[in-house]
Amino acid sequence: MSKINIAVLVSGGGTNLQSIIDHIENGNIDGQIGVVISSKEDAYALKRAKKHGIEGVYIGKENFPDLNERNLKILQILEDKQIDLIVLAGYMSILDKNMVEKYKNRMMNIHPSLIPSFCGKGFYGKKVHEAVIEYGVKLTGATVHFVDEGTDTGPVIMQKSVEVKDADTAEDVAKRVLEVEHEILPLSVKLFAEGKLKVIGRRVTVENA
Ligand code: GAR
Repeated sequence: MSKINIAVLVSGGGTNLQSIIDHIENGNIDGQIGVVISSKEDAYALKRAKKHGIEGVYIGKENFPDLNERNLKILQILEDKQIDLIVLAGYMSILDKNMVEKYKNRMMNIHPSLIPSFCGKGFYGKKVHEAVIEYGVKLTGATVHFVDEGTDTGPVIMQKSVEVKDADTAEDVAKRVLEVEHEILPLSVKLFAEGKLKVIGRRVTVENA
C-alpha cells in the first residue's frame, strides 16, 4: 500500500495533531499530512502545522459564514488533495452528512471519554471532564472511533482508560486523558495506514500482518 494522505481537522491547541506529526516524522506512521484545516483562525494547531512545513487552512465562521458553503469548501480541499483519511483531532464544528457518507470508515474522531459515557451533544473539551468529576466515576479515558451520522456514535476503533483520583480537578483529568489520547490516536492512524482496520457492522478489528 502506498503512503496514505491524511487531513487533520482541528480547532484548538493541536496536541493530538502534534502526536500524529511526531509519529510520521519518526517513521512509525506510513503516511503524510496533506492538509490541516482549522475552524479557528488563531488555533495554535495551525502554528504547529506551519512549523512542520504542513499546509494549514482556516475555514470558519468569519471567512465562510454559511455552514453549507463552509462544508463545500472543506470537501473541495479534501478532494483536491486526494485525501484518504480524515482525522478529527479536537475539531469542534459540524460536518456535512454528505461528507460523513463519502468518507465512511475513512474519517476518525478522538473523544476524551470512554464512549458511550460522557459523549454526544454538548460533551466536548473541558465539559466532558467536568461531567466526569460531577458524576463521580472512578475511571474515564479516551476513545477513537469512525465517524457516522450521529454525534460520537460511530464504530469504536480503540479505547484506553485512566483513573479518576479523589482530589482530581477537571484539569487534572483532562491532562491524564490527553496522555492516552496521544497513544491511541497515532496508533489508530498507523493501523489504518497499514490497512489493518476491518469494520464489520459496529465492530472494528485489527488484522495481523
Ligand atoms: C482533546 O481532548 C480531544 O479529545 C477533544 O478536544 C481536545 C483537543 O485537544 N475533542 C473533543 O472534545 C471532541 N468532542 P488538542 O487540540 O490539544 O488535540
